[in-house]
Formats: sequence, structure tokens, C-alpha cells
Amino acid sequence: MKKITIAIDGHSSCGKSTMAKDLARQIGYIYIDSGAMYRCCTLFCMQQGLINADGSIQEEAFEQRMSEIHVSFRLNAETGRPDTYLNNICVEREIRTMEVSSHVSPVAALPFVRAAMTAQQQEMGREGGIVMDGRDIGTAVFPHAEMKVFVTASDEVRAQRRYDELQAKGEPCDFQQILENLRERDRIDSTRAVAPLRKADDALVLDNSNLTIDQQNAWLLEQFHKIAG
Ligand code: DC
Repeated sequence: MKKITIAIDGHSSCGKSTMAKDLARQIGYIYIDSGAMYRCCTLFCMQQGLINADGSIQEEAFEQRMSEIHVSFRLNAETGRPDTYLNNICVEREIRTMEVSSHVSPVAALPFVRAAMTAQQQEMGREGGIVMDGRDIGTAVFPHAEMKVFVTASDEVRAQRRYDELQAKGEPCDFQQILENLRERDRIDSTRAVAPLRKADDALVLDNSNLTIDQQNAWLLEQFHKIAG
């Protein structure tokens, strides 16, 4: 059976990654977390002192060093899920901190960052058989994907999920700060000039505010079978 391309886009912290990962595992496809790639670019900026104290980015210096950023994913045998590597160092934990979350949207809005990451993502998906989640996968990265899903959930539900996730990892977190951060990220992601977050015209919509993980996985698998046959 021909392997298709599956694009899952949507707002911050709406559970896209969880559903995309689970679907990929069930159907034997490769899963790529495109947000992790923008988080790696942000971590690189932080490590190299390219973010000023006021949060502004040293764009020229950053652009000159973009070619030093190599993101890859490797399966973690213990968790059964892929970990993110920045220049061959596992940064799975570092890229999920609140500090990275608070700088990632301005970094992801830079045209030279998007051009570099989009090219890498298209290369990863050249052969199909991929589930990629993000903000612009169905609109800009794979506009011809056979299956597109746009996921959303209420702001409060999304903030609670992120809060629970950070708590479980023992990361310091504050509900109000998380809520404000995700609203601000949605605003920047939806209003940027290049590849803004928006639903592709041909995407299926899923509001998972009141769905369990099992229910959303079942819905997604059903859509996959309808489309892939
Ligand atoms: O999905 P996430 O929260 O890990 O994504 C982190 C940030 O990266 C998010 O604020 C927007 C940006 N992003 C993007 O601009 N395009 C993508 N395809 C994926 C993520």
C-alpha cells in the first residue's frame, strides 16, 4: 500500500504531538515533531548568547550561524519515542522548558529560520510514510499532503495539559504564566508574515477539549483508514 503524508497542525499544547506519535506508531510511519526543530533553534540562540536581555534576537549574527544547527531524531529504546538531538547532543528535556517556550515564537517567525527548517522537513518527508505535526505543515511544508488535520482545544484545557506535563517532569511551573505564554505564542504564530498558523482549506478539524487520548486516537485512526484505504 502506498504510504501517504499526514500533516497535523494546530494551536500550542493541544495534544498534537501525542496523537501524531501514537498514530505513527500504530501505522508504522515515521513521526517528526517540527516544533522541536524550532525549539532547537531557540536553544542554540540561548546557548550562544544570541538573545538579548530584553528578549530581542541578534538576527544578523544568528543568520550567519544557522548552518551550524543540525537537528535529528533518534528512537529512545526506553520510552519507545523519538528524542530530539541538537548537533548530536540529546536536548529532549532542555527544549521543553518554559524559558525555551517563551522565546520560541519570535525565533520561529524569522524567515531565514523557517526557510532552513522547512527545507529539512521536506527532505525528511520526501518518501511519504510520515506523520509531521506543527503549525504550517498542511499549508507550507506539505501543501499536497493526502491527510491534513487541524487540532484545537480551549485555552484553559491546553494550559492545564501543559501544566500537568511540566509537573510530572518536576519542572517549576505556574498555571497563569503557562496560560499567558500559550496565548502569546498563538498570537505570534497566527500573525507572523511567513507561514502563519492557519487551517488549510482541505484540513479535517478536531476540537479535542472534551476527548480522552483514546477517543482522539480512535478518531484519527478512523480518518486515516478512510483516506489511505
Ligand atoms: O509545537 P510546539 O509548541 O513545540 O512548537 C514550538 C513553537 O514552534 C511554536 O510556538 C510555534 C513554532 N512552530 C512553528 O512556527 N511551525 C511549526 N511547524 C512548528 C512549530
